[in-house]
Amino acid sequence: MPDTFTIAIDGPAASGKGTLARRLAVHYGFHHLDTGLTYRAVAKALLDRGLPLDDEAIAAEMAQNLDLQHLDRAALVAHHVGEAASKVAVMPAVRRALVAAQRAFAQTPPGTILDGRDIGTVVCPDAPVKLYVMASAEARARRRHAEISASGGEAGFAEILADLNRRDARDMGRTDSPLKPADDAHLLDTTEMDIEAAFLAAKRLVDEALAKR
Ligand code: DC
Repeated sequence: MPDTFTIAIDGPAASGKGTLARRLAVHYGFHHLDTGLTYRAVAKALLDRGLPLDDEAIAAEMAQNLDLQHLDRAALVAHHVGEAASKVAVMPAVRRALVAAQRAFAQTPPGTILDGRDIGTVVCPDAPVKLYVMASAEARARRRHAEISASGGEAGFAEILADLNRRDARDMGRTDSPLKPADDAHLLDTTEMDIEAAFLAAKRLVDEALAKR
């Protein structure tokens, strides 16, 4: 019996996968890695040093030196960092370095939850539970808009929607590890679901897989 149990969660930006992953991690006492933060950290390191975002050798070196234990979410949430991350994420040498670190994390006992774009397809293809969380672009834009307004920020709905569509196109259209559901992923469409309903649906699938160990 393997001594760790991995839950792979993928989905587009603002699909709710991060919130779901954090809820599941607390419930099962598993370690959680938001792999988007790893791409964001590489992008921010380049931005902070005034280095180009499209030099693969430089970006790969940043990726190799990344310390997964010290990813500071607060420093990485900014919108422009997400945009830069999605550009950095198209480079295969960057992905190779980050995927190696993510796979090592995935081995931590007693269990791990990784969320991102290529967890079920590339990072942890043998994960016993794979979830693909999606929602319509309009629903995702509505949630993002509400989040931004709640934190006192300002952004137009149309602008947010256009931005999500652009991000989806880049994440799904890249050649290396494009965003797509693994063949054996369970699809969770949260367009009409709140977080509690999504959590209960995911928990049922995880409990079933745990019972089969
Ligand atoms: O989930 P996020 O917005 O923090 O991700 C930022 C960018 O990183 C996203 O546009 C694509 C990239 N990414 C990726 O290519 N593969 C992952 N496993 C996670 C994120």
